[in-house]
Amino acid sequence: MFKMKKAMLQALLFSAFAVVSPLQAIADETPIIRYADRFVPIIAKNGMVASQEAIATKVGVDILKQGGNAVDAAVAVGFALAVTFPQAGNIGGGGFMMVHLAKDNKTIAIDYREMAPAAAHRDLYLDENGDVDNRRARFSHQSAGVPGTVAGLIHALENYGTMTLKQVIAPAVALAEDGFTLAYSLESSLLARKERLSRNPAAKKALFKPDGSHYQFGETLKQPDLAQTLKAIRDKGFDGFYKGSVADLIVKEMKANDGLITHKDLENYKVVEREAIKGSYKGYDVLTMPPPSSGGVHIVQMMNMLENDNLKDLGHNSAASLHLMIEAMRQAYADRSEYLGDPDYFDVPIKELIDKKYAAKLRTQIPNKKARKSEEVKPALDVTPESPDTTHFSVMDNEGNAVSNTYTLNFSYGSHIMVSGAGFLLNNEMDDFSAKVGVANAYGLLGAEANAIEAGKRPLSSMTPTLVLKDGKAFMATGSPGGSTIITVVLQVLMNALEHEMNVAAATYAPRIHHQWYPDRILVEPGISADTKALLEAWGHNLDNRRRTIGSTQSIQFRDGFFYGASDSRRHGALTLGY
Ligand code: GLY
Repeated sequence: MFKMKKAMLQALLFSAFAVVSPLQAIADETPIIRYADRFVPIIAKNGMVASQEAIATKVGVDILKQGGNAVDAAVAVGFALAVTFPQAGNIGGGGFMMVHLAKDNKTIAIDYREMAPAAAHRDLYLDENGDVDNRRARFSHQSAGVPGTVAGLIHALENYGTMTLKQVIAPAVALAEDGFTLAYSLESSLLARKERLSRNPAAKKALFKPDGSHYQFGETLKQPDLAQTLKAIRDKGFDGFYKGSVADLIVKEMKANDGLITHKDLENYKVVEREAIKGSYKGYDVLTMPPPSSGGVHIVQMMNMLENDNLKDLGHNSAASLHLMIEAMRQAYADRSEYLGDPDYFDVPIKELIDKKYAAKLRTQIPNKKARKSEEVKPALDVTPESPDTTHFSVMDNEGNAVSNTYTLNFSYGSHIMVSGAGFLLNNEMDDFSAKVGVANAYGLLGAEANAIEAGKRPLSSMTPTLVLKDGKAFMATGSPGGSTIITVVLQVLMNALEHEMNVAAATYAPRIHHQWYPDRILVEPGISADTKALLEAWGHNLDNRRRTIGSTQSIQFRDGFFYGASDSRRHGALTLGY
């Protein structure tokens, strides 16, 4: 009897220990777990990578394990995604990278957005009737801006990395040359875009089988032309892409197809380091991308507008808190249409837009329990964006460095046009300019003078790679694809984490909304309760409940000695991994 009791006691103790031990051990040290969210993040001790594609994430973690820092890993992920995630990973596009360097306590904003070719001009896409020719703006050789990705990744590595280009690009070269195994996400994406991609002979040859059929789950995709281009970059750096044989292929492609990019445009491509947008929210520092991203300015503007309401007490995704967020979004996108553009060409009133006094004034204009009409909300300073397939990745290392990078071809697969012989797709970023005042771009975004097309100018973007610091140390890295929705997605992840104190997984998976001034409707993901929606509608909000998801964030937090990460559950194929 005693023996039996002892055995039972041991079993009970063991099972209790087995159930609570691993998480409890962490929970004791890590308060964030104690919020008892229904979702737990990936947890690691030494470093972490979150990206939209699993192979690329593993490449990044390998670089960290080899002793590389977050920048080394981010650059390796950037090149790897150009092979394994052709939807948006790229060397033919551009993007933004935020880097926090712990040693120097410094945050850097690297702008490697595409530049308009010298031959571009304000009325580039207008037809003989003065209407915007969307085919030319989105699906022609003229829709490509001068790519910035290669210059941007090399710039980051040379200035803030510790490894050689040869080391960090090697995995991408091998993935292109030897091939990689297709996951469901790429099979389904290629199948969905088969018709349009197959219209371009080079894209058809590179991404489909010789008989024209699509590669399937478990099959191997090799990209020999892309491997050659990556080797040229590996061996010659900037000159391997912007000069020499790859540049010759780009220019030949342009000349044969009425494109605009010349050798001079390529040689003149410049990476710009800009001063990060800095905001604060209840004790956190929010460091994010300045123009030509519109994201950073408006994230800070909206957080300023929301900071003095206790959204936590109003309730996460309650009608009351969503009402305030929607009205903040409405105002921010109205301002975006008027004041945001490439700061090298247009005087963007950044200081005014992120001023807490401006936000306080705007807050007084939000009625209680009553939606405004977008026509009532105008850009309000007292001074005079896709098929959503951009991609984001975040990296943190064990020295306290953090990288938040968003880059893009604009649409999924950009213009769907590949540079023949070079194996990479061209962006259609020129559509992010305002082709004509008052005419919306592919994301329904309106623009004006600030974002008019000019030679050498960078189109306004919504990409919002963001870092959050707590007591001067990297606390969070996040960002998302999603065209015009990027800004509101990042806002909601930040608010979920900083205001509602959710762990990074719960902050990621929570249902989202999106409003962008025009069109005057609010996208609502499944998961917002029917009661909440009924209240919002009763207050006059115009909800669009069609089933769809918004964004796909890749986020990492560091607190109490652990990395916590989460890849969005909204799209297949992503992976967060640490070690
Ligand atoms: N191409 C989408 C963006 O940059 O916002």
